[in-house]
Amino acid sequence: MSHLLALETSIPALLADLQGLPAAAGLRYLADKFSGTIAFSSSLGIEDQLVTHYIFDNKLPIRVFTLDTGRLFNETYTLLHRTNQRYDQKIEVYFPKHEAVEQLLHNKGPQSFYESLENRKECCFIRKVEPLKRALQGVQVWVTGLRADQSDNRQSMQLLEWDDNFKVIKYNPLLDYTLDDVRAAIKEHNIPYNTLHDKGFVSIGCAPCTRAIREGENFRAGRWWWEDNSKKECGLHAR
Ligand code: ADX
Ligand code: SF4
Repeated sequence: MSHLLALETSIPALLADLQGLPAAAGLRYLADKFSGTIAFSSSLGIEDQLVTHYIFDNKLPIRVFTLDTGRLFNETYTLLHRTNQRYDQKIEVYFPKHEAVEQLLHNKGPQSFYESLENRKECCFIRKVEPLKRALQGVQVWVTGLRADQSDNRQSMQLLEWDDNFKVIKYNPLLDYTLDDVRAAIKEHNIPYNTLHDKGFVSIGCAPCTRAIREGENFRAGRWWWEDNSKKECGLHAR
C-alpha cells in the first residue's frame, strides 16, 4: 500500500479514538501519534487563537505557522507579536514568493482582486495557497480552526478528513464549536485576540478584502463582500 493510501485509510480508526474528546485532548492525542509531522495553520482569527493556546500552553509538539500575505491588518501583526510574547514561543511565518508578487503588481496593480473572481483567486493563490503548500511539506496532519457553522460549505466538513489537494489528513478540532463557545474559552483563559473583533469584524483575512459586518449579517459577509456567497473560499479549503 502506498504511503498516502495508508495515511488516508488510517482515518476511521483515528476518528474512533477522537470521538468525544475535547479539542485540547484531541490535539494531544494526534500530537503523540504524529509528532514531527503535524502542523497547525493559524490565521490569528479568534478560533485559531484558541487552538494556538491549547498547543503552546500544553507545549504540544505541533508546529504553528501563519501565512503572512503581505496585506494583513496592522492589528493582526500586533496580535502575532503579542501571541509570541505571551507564550514565549514563535509562530512560524510563511511569505509569498517575491517574484510572483512583483509580477502580479507589475502586470495588474495592487487592487486586481476587485476586478474579477479570476484575479482574486490568482492573488489568493500567490499569497496564500502556494505558501501553504510549502508550509505543509512533510506534514501528515494539518490542523485548522474551521468551524461548521461558519458557512454552508463548511457544514459538511468532518472532524478528520482526507484533503486531496494537499494530500494530508485535515483535523478540525473546533468543528462543532459555536462562536460563543470560542469567545467563552478566549475569555476564560485570557487569550490574546485581534482588537478588530471588538469593532464588528468576525472573520478576518487580508485588509483590502475584509470589512466589519452589520447586525444580522452572516459570519462571512465581511470577506470578499463584493462576491457571490458561493464563491467565498480562497483556495485553502477548496473541496
Ligand atoms: S479563508 O479560507 O476564508 O481564508 P478562514 O479565514 O475562514 O479561511 O480560516 C479558516 C482556517 O484556514 C483557519 O482556521 C486557518 O487554519 C486557515 N487559514 C486561513 N487563513 C490563514 C492564514 N493567513 N494563515 C494560516 N492559516 C490560515
Ligand atoms: Fe489577495 Fe485579497 Fe486573497 Fe488577500 S484575500 S490574498 S489580498 S485576494
